[in-house]
Amino acid sequence: MINFTTVNDLISPSFGGVGEAIDALVQKALAYKANPFTDKSLGTNKRIGCLFLNPSMRTRLSTQIAAQNLGMEAIIFNVGNEGWMLEFEEEAIMSGTSVEHVKDAAPIFGKYFDILAIRTFPSLKNRDDDYSELYIKQFIKYAGIPVVSLESATLHPLQSLTDIITITESFKEQRKPKIVLTWAPHVKPLPQCVANSFSQWVNAWDKADFVITHPEDYELSSAFTKGATIMHDQNEALKDADFVYVKNWSTFNDYGKMYESDPKWMMTNKKLELTNNAKVMHCLPVRRNVELSDEILDGPNSIVTLEASNRVWAAQAVLAEILKGNG
Ligand code: CP
Repeated sequence: MINFTTVNDLISPSFGGVGEAIDALVQKALAYKANPFTDKSLGTNKRIGCLFLNPSMRTRLSTQIAAQNLGMEAIIFNVGNEGWMLEFEEEAIMSGTSVEHVKDAAPIFGKYFDILAIRTFPSLKNRDDDYSELYIKQFIKYAGIPVVSLESATLHPLQSLTDIITITESFKEQRKPKIVLTWAPHVKPLPQCVANSFSQWVNAWDKADFVITHPEDYELSSAFTKGATIMHDQNEALKDADFVYVKNWSTFNDYGKMYESDPKWMMTNKKLELTNNAKVMHCLPVRRNVELSDEILDGPNSIVTLEASNRVWAAQAVLAEILKGNG
């Protein structure tokens, strides 16, 4: 693995397919969970630069801990509020607010660090711009070192790897789990990243019956959902679910809008009765009693803390693969 920005970065001649590559990475992560310091010298004298153009709690801390477990130094830089405003467009005439071009900044990061990890964000104004993933692609083009996505304009691969680790760890039956990704209400339009990425990874994994449910008008890009069953009746979708992944996202077609925050889509204990005593997941941060009820988050079916704690092992597995140069 050279970069880690999408599930497709796992495609390698060493594995039979992406599903096998995901399983191998999950097992590596679970091995680190059992023995965090087995590779404590792998990153000796190496540095990872973690650049944040958008806020974070879990991603920032878990990546830092993962790097430390591998003996690697992590340097955090909140570019969004501490650095110069970067320009990403080629041939830009920089007479506006941008101070420094990525083609000048990224090669410097390439000299300072061994791995560059970046959190960018979507504008939610121009779909073509967001889905071109210009920011992360420009860092890959100009840094000259491996790049790890800490969430981009359209995807959140470390979160999705964590989610599959958590599902693998929590499901012991000898059959495919039924996983339901359900849209939830919110107070403002959010990116599609987590939902896109979860769909991309679960479809590539191909080890579950995967259902996505959302109000009409909240279709995600078929580039990520292809392979899943899509339903607009949430109650019908939840029937016999083993895992319910709750997440809000804004509209993809009429891009970046929020048409409704209909409270009836909030996940509650009443709806859990329709499921196979499902475990409930959310990437966090979560709006309590808007997306998910207190009763669920504080109850026995919630695995959100387990899920967030697994972010460390996902990051550690990915950083180790890059440090070992496993392609
Ligand atoms: N789930 C997640 O990415 O959390 P943070 O935004 O706090 O990093």
